[in-house]
Amino acid sequence: MNEKNRTNPGNRKGHDTLQKQAEGRKPKEKTPLIEVKHLQKVFTVGQMKVKALGEVSFVIQQGEFIALQGASGAGKSTLLQLLGGLEQPSSGSIRISGTKLHGMSEDELARFRKENVGFVFQFFNLIPTLTALENVMVSRMFDPESEVEAAWDYAVELLTRMALEKRMSHRPSELSGGEQQRVAIARALLNRPKLLLADEPTGNVDSGSGKHIMELFKKENRTGTTIILATHNSEIASYANRIMKMKDGRIM
Ligand SMILES: Nc1ncnc2c1ncn2[C@@H]1O[C@H](COP(=O)(O)OP(=O)(O)OP(=O)(O)O)[C@@H](O)[C@H]1O
Ligand SMILES: [Mg+2]
Repeated sequence: MNEKNRTNPGNRKGHDTLQKQAEGRKPKEKTPLIEVKHLQKVFTVGQMKVKALGEVSFVIQQGEFIALQGASGAGKSTLLQLLGGLEQPSSGSIRISGTKLHGMSEDELARFRKENVGFVFQFFNLIPTLTALENVMVSRMFDPESEVEAAWDYAVELLTRMALEKRMSHRPSELSGGEQQRVAIARALLNRPKLLLADEPTGNVDSGSGKHIMELFKKENRTGTTIILATHNSEIASYANRIMKMKDGRIM
């Protein structure tokens, strides 16, 4: 008897039902946190076009700790800025938790950033006239929607986690480079971002402080925060769970 003749329509139906039940039990395909397709960024400087990012496509899952490693000019900062919605792509698309960034209005992008993304910049970008604690709170202090009391408490908790409990009322000029960077990390974490983007966060500190900062990132990643960290340094990159190498605007 060939396979076709053996098929019993009654059984077939039962089989289909079982199959459906089994599919219902299967864990659903997870939506990746980040889905990038054919992303390009071209800057125009006078008559010249600078291709900062070639066509890059990749997926990053929730909870990953990625090091974006590459030489100066490879396109690391450009990619981080696109992922955080600070720059618009020339072409291609970025989806974060399934939502397309391209096409959002400025207000929508600002809200998206506030609710989802924390940035740590290479040169700290702290406000010199504010104390460490006020710098951490800067996005919430003047926000009418914000639950300000709870945010102050969390800012204190974050600075304590960064071993800065004795430096809260210091201004940036009264802090070391490593301390300033830890304030900048606390500031990036204040709104409990799903995604932490860090651009050479150890670029301006000595190697001891650099290791301390990387341990803090690792700890933060263990709480579930997805981290993408740009660095040219392979020792720093080795703290990540996955290394994405960049060269001339491409991912290798
Ligand atoms: N605003 C801009 N206008 C024009 N060109 C730019 C601009 N920003 C970046 N570029 C160019 O795009 C390329 C990638 O720059 P990007 O800053 O992303 O590199 P990077 O990997 O972060 O380098 P670094 O390690 O030095 O920070 C470089 O050639 C740079 O000159
Ligand atoms: Mg850079």
